[in-house]
Amino acid sequence: MTTSPLLPKDLSLEELWMPFTANRAFKRSPRLLASAAGMHYRDVEGRTILDGTAGLWCVNAGHCRPAVVQAIQQSAATLDFAPGFQMGHPASFALAQKLAALAPGDLDHVFFANSGSEAVDSALKIALAYHQARGEPGRVRFVGRLRGYHGVGFGGISVGGIEINRKAFAAQLLPQVDHLPHTHDLAHNAFTRGQPAWGAHLADALEEIVARRGPDTIAAVIVEPVAGSTGVLVPPKGYLERLRALCTKHGILLIFDEVITGFGRLGAAFGASYFGVQPDMMTVAKGITNGAVPMGAVVVRGSIYDSVVNAAADSGIEFFHGYTYSGHPLASAAGLATLDLYASEGLFQRAAALAPVWEEAVHSLKEVSKVIDVRNLGLVAGIELEPRAGAPGARGLETLQGCFRNALLVRVTGDIIALSPSLIIEKAHIEQLVDILRGVLQRLD
Ligand SMILES: Cc1ncc(COP(=O)(O)O)c(C=O)c1O
Repeated sequence: MTTSPLLPKDLSLEELWMPFTANRAFKRSPRLLASAAGMHYRDVEGRTILDGTAGLWCVNAGHCRPAVVQAIQQSAATLDFAPGFQMGHPASFALAQKLAALAPGDLDHVFFANSGSEAVDSALKIALAYHQARGEPGRVRFVGRLRGYHGVGFGGISVGGIEINRKAFAAQLLPQVDHLPHTHDLAHNAFTRGQPAWGAHLADALEEIVARRGPDTIAAVIVEPVAGSTGVLVPPKGYLERLRALCTKHGILLIFDEVITGFGRLGAAFGASYFGVQPDMMTVAKGITNGAVPMGAVVVRGSIYDSVVNAAADSGIEFFHGYTYSGHPLASAAGLATLDLYASEGLFQRAAALAPVWEEAVHSLKEVSKVIDVRNLGLVAGIELEPRAGAPGARGLETLQGCFRNALLVRVTGDIIALSPSLIIEKAHIEQLVDILRGVLQRLD
């Protein structure tokens, strides 16, 4: 263990069970962050590290922005907590109002949760409640997509399609779920810039599921507009449009899980706005508070809210679901300050303007011998490596470690490197990021 003055002398790493982490390997060789500002972290050794992943796809406006910090500080000192059941506080209403204004079309009502996972589980419940309220209680099935990531609640892993996240829990997943095929196909789409031309027809698998299960049994389809955690899968041109048309045809709700595509990641407020495809619900989290306070939300069509709420007795609770911390004052304050920052600095437009520079830079990695694909959209990129024979994931892990040694934070899924910098990134940072990554990739065996 390091003797950094930033660490308490008696600090033990043993007691913490770390999430999605190789605990034993990490504790042998820890990577500990101590502070952050703008595009950079500082680790406990005092090294400055370029953040290539906006934390975990969440710090879209850059780290420790004073406006967000001050909003949280002020809220903590004024209203630390307010019950959200049968009580309220103004900031949560104000944030819902702002979010509804930012969301496309008639996505104008907001249900708050505390994470992406909770937002997803809430959205699935809203879908069931909606169909029940409309007199179609038989619509209970969900359709997800292979390689989809929707967090780690039982609902989320049931509709999710990342096998390793489901394996240990397979005996108790939601029982009535089908999965669409994923859209990853290197034979057709390797090294595509932006949306691949091939693959819209993969959405037609929904017709087959509808035919097999019956059109009046399916409550909702949930997909990420761009699949992130599985390693950045950009939707083929026309794919989301086709999914939308099929859902409309069969009375199925379409949920976009926008936990990473929301808040400017693609150069527009949401993936739905970027692609011009209107879902019935969106789940969001992460960038809603710039990652500074946990928060998630479901943004729903007004007609969905009306159906559920109007189906109950006037003074009765309409939806038996919610969290102690739904719309927490600190999260609401952080969310309000964050949305203001996105608007006042034009960060979504900034991301859109930088996207071609980003695309050019990441595609220069095509020349590196182990790289078998580069894909990108907005300020996201996925770089896929050829797995080492007999050791899948090893090159990915070595890339993460090598980048960190060279003062760059990247995210890795198996042998795919995912990049998603804050929207404040400068061209010089992009060059630096790609140079460090290229050096590490060239040294892989
Ligand atoms: C698309 C998507 N949905 C849901 C989640 C889960 O969010 P959380 O980790 O906040 O529960 C994530 C997290 O990365 C995500 O990318």
